[in-house]
Amino acid sequence: MKNSVDQTAVTCVAVNEGLPAVPHYLQAHYWWAYVHPRAVHVFERQWLVNLILWGNYRRLCNAVLDEFGHDLPGRTLQIACAYGDLTQRLVDCVGPGGLLEVVDILPIQLDNLSAKLASDAPIGLHCMDSAALTFADASFDRALLFFLLHEQPQGVREKTLTEALRVVRPGGTLTIVDYAPPSRLNPLRYFWKPVLDRLEPFARDLFSEDVEAWLPQDGSYETVGRQSFFGGMYQMLTLRVVDRSVDR
Ligand SMILES: C[S@@+](CC[C@H](N)C(=O)[O-])C[C@H]1O[C@@H](n2cnc3c(N)ncnc32)[C@H](O)[C@@H]1O
Repeated sequence: MKNSVDQTAVTCVAVNEGLPAVPHYLQAHYWWAYVHPRAVHVFERQWLVNLILWGNYRRLCNAVLDEFGHDLPGRTLQIACAYGDLTQRLVDCVGPGGLLEVVDILPIQLDNLSAKLASDAPIGLHCMDSAALTFADASFDRALLFFLLHEQPQGVREKTLTEALRVVRPGGTLTIVDYAPPSRLNPLRYFWKPVLDRLEPFARDLFSEDVEAWLPQDGSYETVGRQSFFGGMYQMLTLRVVDRSVDR
């Protein structure tokens, strides 16, 4: 891994800005999916990711790309890697002079992502904690949280959301795709939740509360989009960062 990213040359490199410690929740509950050296080998299969999402992986990725209008001018932040081809598809939408930055707390995940990308892809990879981003305020045009929040304990989830809103410029957007409280008519509400309770202990929060419960209550955003998928079990929420300087 190189130690700095040349943003004008726009190359695909991973950056270690002083490696953050692996959080306890990740080591304790997700070692099998992300931390273990064999995890990438087992899970980096599009069909498996799709199976875990009950066949909705493509649909949810398409929804993200449609939301972005298949065009990513300026600077875009993807907060946490994901198995599958979502990041490659985002890179394909980066406009001239634009850049996609991806952060993840695990070097093994950044290395895996790097291996999936063309060497000249307009992307920067950063080993960084989503709850303590080192990017400047208002330095991105948009940010994406794809199935990260349900893996984090409440306190970390709240910090991740606060940080994501902090780094997006006024008028820019934060797009969140994750589990949602399913409709009472959705049989998976009764069957899948107990499975997740065993495997992903913090996911139950997303099954019972709206994301707004963990967002800062400081008027820093407005909700501009909300879509529901698969009987309400998945959601895409789009927030626009408010320019509070115009209120003063
Ligand atoms: C985005 S989430 C789930 C993605 C989804 N299961 C998939 O692969 O489609 C998984 C990633 O989140 C990362 N992650 C978890 N906690 C993090 C944190 N505090 N900061 C940055 N990345 C984190 C993990 O290392 C992992 O690579």
